[in-house]
Amino acid sequence: MDPTLPLPLLGGLSPAQFMRRHWQKQPLLVRQAWPDVRPPLGSAALWALAARDDVESRLVRRPAAADADKRWQLEHGPIARRARPGPQALDWTLLVQGLDLHNAAARALLEAFRFVPDARLDDLMLSLAGSGGGVGPHLDSYDVFLLQVQGRRRWRVGPPVARPSWASGQPLKLLKGFRPDREWLLEPGDMLYLPPLWGHDGIAVGTGCMTASVGFRAPRAAGLAHELLLRLAEGDGADPNDDTAALYADPAQAATPHPAAVPPAMLAFARRSLRRSLAEPGALERSLGEVLSEPKREVWFDALDPAPATLPDGIALRLDRRTRMLYDRFGHVFVNGESLHAAGRDAGLMQRLADTRELDAAQCRRLSAGARAVVYQWWIDGWVHEIHPQPAN
Ligand code: SIN
Ligand code: CO
Repeated sequence: MDPTLPLPLLGGLSPAQFMRRHWQKQPLLVRQAWPDVRPPLGSAALWALAARDDVESRLVRRPAAADADKRWQLEHGPIARRARPGPQALDWTLLVQGLDLHNAAARALLEAFRFVPDARLDDLMLSLAGSGGGVGPHLDSYDVFLLQVQGRRRWRVGPPVARPSWASGQPLKLLKGFRPDREWLLEPGDMLYLPPLWGHDGIAVGTGCMTASVGFRAPRAAGLAHELLLRLAEGDGADPNDDTAALYADPAQAATPHPAAVPPAMLAFARRSLRRSLAEPGALERSLGEVLSEPKREVWFDALDPAPATLPDGIALRLDRRTRMLYDRFGHVFVNGESLHAAGRDAGLMQRLADTRELDAAQCRRLSAGARAVVYQWWIDGWVHEIHPQPAN
């Protein structure tokens, strides 16, 4: 998509303007951002997903006003059929996470937001609520687009506070003393963008309220460092059982009166080892792409069975909706936590596959024999699928 063209989705702002003025800075309410929006799936199908143990879901109930102890209820999925609130019940909401992994229409909805790098995309969550339902006042560490896909929801929003405090004794992290300074009633097709840490509370008005949240994760420094160090250690090729690999040596170690003290030479050795791993050309770049393209824990691909012997000539391919594919400017291509190096024409074609999530037959034919072998493996592993383009009438 051309980032300089105005989008109805962003209320007439171009993605470039939106990113400059609002992204990570200010909320944006867009009336009729998506006028003909339809729920990616109906309530029955959503409840069916929530009943599965490979789908992340939660059922939240707000305490009735008259309830003495005022405790919210939180139930994690799988949600049994008998736990489903009746059609007219009040104050409940069902949240289903990672809908894009399970539903093609939900994945397709995400395409509209690809003016933000895929490396930031987390997932599409869909909530279904009875009248009065919501998850209470809270904040998220995510950037989120809240698209009203059915029914109505009233949002109250307030800016980040320096030291937020939380209601005690609740199963949810509820903001104490939430002070919203703006309020909107969203109708189907309306959308609200919220930067991280803005307080918000959305309450369903009437039955059948469905809200799609397109969430963007921001890695935490400590968590990212942890994962990168693991990858760097795995990727340095050193066999932990290799007796000839660089061993700590301390021929100058004097007899010590303090046996429990860590020898300074050991610290220097540790520092040198880490620096060596980090300095290895391409190692950090590779590890970062692998970490960022790692699929979510619950993702499994369906391998082709039986596996054809070769990639057919004339095949056109599309990435599976669960496949994460990224690339960097050093020729690395990352798919589902794995990396490879692509050069020349292959690099351009791989980047195209990652950006558009498709390669047509002519493009597939232009891949080198080596790249075709890689793509063949992705195909039989279920990471990409054959597509049959519609013939022009
Ligand atoms: C909801 O859809 O009910 C909650 C979304 C959110 O507040 O992040
Ligand atoms: Co939220």
